[in-house]
Amino acid sequence: MPNSQNYDVLIIGSGGAGLSLALKLADHSLRIAVLSKFALTMGSTFYAQGGISAVFGADDSIESHIEDTLDAGAGLCDSDIVRLTVTHGKSSIDWLRQQGVVFTEEQTASGEVKLHLNQEGGHSHRRIVHTADATGKAVSLSLIERAQEHANIDLFEHHNVVELITSSKDADKRILGAYVLDSKKQAVRTITARVVVLATGGASKAYLYSTNPHSSTGDGIALAWRAGCRVSNMEFMQFHPTCLYHPHAHSFLISEAVRGEGGKLILPDGSPFMQHFDPRGELAPRDIVARAIDHEMKKRGIDCVYLDISHKPEPFIREHFPTIYQQCLEFDIDITKQPIPVVPAAHYTCGGVVTDSYARTDIANLYAVGEVACTGLHGANRMASNSLLECLVFAERASEDILQKLPGILPPPEIPDWDESKVSDSDEEVVVSHNWDELRRFMWDYVGIVRTDKRLSRALSRVELLKKEIAEYYGNFRVTSDLLELRNLVIVAELIIRCAQLRKESRGLHYTLDYPETDNSRPAKNSVLTPQPTERR
Ligand code: FAD
Ligand code: SIN
Repeated sequence: MPNSQNYDVLIIGSGGAGLSLALKLADHSLRIAVLSKFALTMGSTFYAQGGISAVFGADDSIESHIEDTLDAGAGLCDSDIVRLTVTHGKSSIDWLRQQGVVFTEEQTASGEVKLHLNQEGGHSHRRIVHTADATGKAVSLSLIERAQEHANIDLFEHHNVVELITSSKDADKRILGAYVLDSKKQAVRTITARVVVLATGGASKAYLYSTNPHSSTGDGIALAWRAGCRVSNMEFMQFHPTCLYHPHAHSFLISEAVRGEGGKLILPDGSPFMQHFDPRGELAPRDIVARAIDHEMKKRGIDCVYLDISHKPEPFIREHFPTIYQQCLEFDIDITKQPIPVVPAAHYTCGGVVTDSYARTDIANLYAVGEVACTGLHGANRMASNSLLECLVFAERASEDILQKLPGILPPPEIPDWDESKVSDSDEEVVVSHNWDELRRFMWDYVGIVRTDKRLSRALSRVELLKKEIAEYYGNFRVTSDLLELRNLVIVAELIIRCAQLRKESRGLHYTLDYPETDNSRPAKNSVLTPQPTERR
């Protein structure tokens, strides 16, 4: 690959959002580059289990899906965006099937074959389309295969964006491309493009315990922030209630669909507890279930609670949850016979880069699609399986806008190469690994499921120290993938804390002991942060 390349569209991210958009644009004679900072499959999409929400059930309706989403979002969803997203559920599933994704089906008593629908928390109906318990793998592999076949799409693995390139004028700032680290060759290249799309996923790796793969370091949020975009609602980090608790298990999720099929949460003595917290029990929205588990663990000083599905027939469990069954068995847990030890873990970033209904950000020709964006769909708490749907719907919306605008967008000018003349190779990699660990631990301890003003201000002072140290390191040494991630993660951590400090109430996923009630005395407001000139590059 030459040191500088030009494309019509540069898409940063090869998950559900990035690849769907690439495929929707690719038939229009455009040259498209898709980057992934690790292997193409390394993103949350590949690991998605439960499925994709869409109204297919005979007794279900669009209105009901909208109502459930608004209810989970605790007063902060944008109702127009919710309607827009939910009404595109069926067409999004149809599009995925056209790309070759095979979803689980069932045969009805009358012999009709139709999609099998999972049940998950917050949903008043069965409406989750899925491929057993490995929906993301099915989606991811099909999209990758289609993209690999397409002559107009160039896929770059192990390419990590260092910085976005914008025109310097603040008033009509536009995107021009990105500096990209080829981490196999340790070389920084310039990729220019008329349109750039952030599809970089979420930021759950800001926390010590997470269900997410390594890639979720919030890079797109930090890149957009440094370039001058607003960021919103970062306090609403979602903790999934049931991550497998085992010393050798690394971030393995036990799908909410297990509770949807009757899985019970129990204490070590076998007693159920969810009915004390919400009449919907195990199927209450995630914020409520995660907080209930956290409460029980802290009150009783226990390391985990248990999720028990063993009362269901063995063939049923093995058919519906083959991946979970197999993975647990590798840790000597037979889920057909014994309960699964589980703990909550950071799972999803509801906030992100502020976008409009076409996925446009504050910078001309820069879009953000998928978990990196804050569209207004999720409000204060995302409902299960609405995320993959959002990826698909906003990929479609962005493609419509990009196709309409592209003919009028000028090609970017000549861009200077990345300047490495003033840096050397690091002789102290330990600074990076130490700061990674420290950051993720204090975010877990101070900015987790239950917050206080004091914990937040403690976390902020630590972030400020780390930011200085990392900036100094970044200024002196050649960039590495780990350093880039850490530099982004510390910004994301700061944005989470600052949004949390703005919210003087408890709402959805943000719960603070200092303001335990939801403030219903005035209309609910998003927490919006605008980067000041000193916070931009
Ligand atoms: P991702 O799929 O995370 O992809 C991000 C991409 O960006 C990756 O290719 C990554 O390499 C790339 N990238 C990031 N930073 C850079 C950079 N600096 N330079 C270059 N490339 C970069 N949601 C549902 O709706 N249903 C589910 O059943 C479900 N189950 C889930 C289970 C698990 C275990 C997890 C972790 C999440 C689950 N979610 C689910 C959430 C959902 O999977 C994600 O929100 C969604 O897949 C995000 O897609 P995305 O394309 O935005 O990002
Ligand atoms: C799960 O299967 O529990 C994850 C679903 C989601 O995050 O939407």
